[in-house]
Amino acid sequence: MAKRVLVIGGGGREHALVRALRRSPQEPELLAAPGNAGIAGDGVECLPDVGAEDLDAIVAAAKERAVDLVVVGPEAPLVAGVVDALAAEGIAAFGPTRAAARIEGSKAYAKELMRRVGVPTASHTLLRDRETALAQLACASYPVVLKADVLAAGKGVIICPDEASAREAVEAYFTERRFGETEVVLEEYLEGEELSLLALCDGERAIPMAPAQDYKRIFDGDEGPNTGGMGSYSPVPGIDAERARELAEQIHRPIVDALRREGTPYHGILYAGLMLTAQGPKVLEFNCRFGDPETQAVLPRLRSDLLDLLERATRPGGLAGAELDWSADWAVTVVLASRGYPASSSKGDVIRGVGAAEAAGAEVLHAGTARRDGELVTAGGRVLNVTGMGPTPGAARERAYAAADLIEFDGRQLRRDIAARAVEKVGA
Ligand code: AMP
Ligand code: GLY
Repeated sequence: MAKRVLVIGGGGREHALVRALRRSPQEPELLAAPGNAGIAGDGVECLPDVGAEDLDAIVAAAKERAVDLVVVGPEAPLVAGVVDALAAEGIAAFGPTRAAARIEGSKAYAKELMRRVGVPTASHTLLRDRETALAQLACASYPVVLKADVLAAGKGVIICPDEASAREAVEAYFTERRFGETEVVLEEYLEGEELSLLALCDGERAIPMAPAQDYKRIFDGDEGPNTGGMGSYSPVPGIDAERARELAEQIHRPIVDALRREGTPYHGILYAGLMLTAQGPKVLEFNCRFGDPETQAVLPRLRSDLLDLLERATRPGGLAGAELDWSADWAVTVVLASRGYPASSSKGDVIRGVGAAEAAGAEVLHAGTARRDGELVTAGGRVLNVTGMGPTPGAARERAYAAADLIEFDGRQLRRDIAARAVEKVGA
């Protein structure tokens, strides 16, 4: 009988997970909760009433449908303990337990853990209230980075070139409460190239996935506010398999070892957001899940059976001997966002041209889309992800943009410089 797999979430990352699971030779039966219009369009049954953060509903659905494996996409249910809740019912789930997911849930905890096990990261101070914050800002050296100590989908970070802008940011955090009731981390500003290195963990080992780079700012040339991510590409020039393994040994491995020793072993994806500085790699953040939009560029390149890897990762030491096989092709993902993103988003704008983009040879993954009276419409900030593949970064990029330009909706926003760096380095 085919295995039944339930994917939690409804963004582009989850659509990429569904596509990769669908390629498994085990031919699993897939369900998604809540899923999205694109996932449903692939013939996957979606459970729109089961919200990605509704732990009771997720457990009930997994039981009722006798699911063999739950694959959790977003961080919020992981941090809230969905894997523990499922385990209590005997249901296997891919992702860290609540205790292990704290590495993303609390920046202060992650920083303390990194300090303890010697993983390099930006130096930091915790700002508990407005008065301490203002006092610290007076003696800081600029630029500095301020981060809300809550899950803020990548948007809680403000980079401050000088004290005036930092004081303004402090008012946003502590007076305006733009990110809710939260403490703030003040961090040293790091310079260098960013790298997203995700590792597959089975409680004992950390096997690096293909490296990727993402684009966090809304506008070309890294201008404007941070978003959830406006595009990505994989692989990354200069980071070959050997270098990725070295980085995983230096960055991921000490974390996995420490958590195993402490009785909260790490299973799932451990995502390191790195800055490759002149003094070596330093961690900007750890996430407890696949990256979005990195996954949309990484998974299309995976030739191994993703279902097998995810299942093995749920078992202690289950990845012994696992080898990940990657296509030599490059993948470039361009995000199409709706009007107003990231401050707001626009819903209900009619989307045209998805079929034409697919016919042009790109993969179109849905995020904030919905069906209304038979038409595809926008339903969130990040709307669609268009991934092009090719033998060079230039070819992949051209294919992604040619297809993205065939998709139209009112207020569409996209960056024009995704993977431009890779093309510069490697050649078109
Ligand atoms: P985070 O959510 O912590 O990954 O931060 C989001 C983005 O802000 C990162 O991808 C970087 O582009 C930027 N950023 C975060 N921390 C730093 C830092 N210490 N120095 C420079 N840039 C940073
Ligand atoms: N792309 C950034 C993230 O997934 O957190």
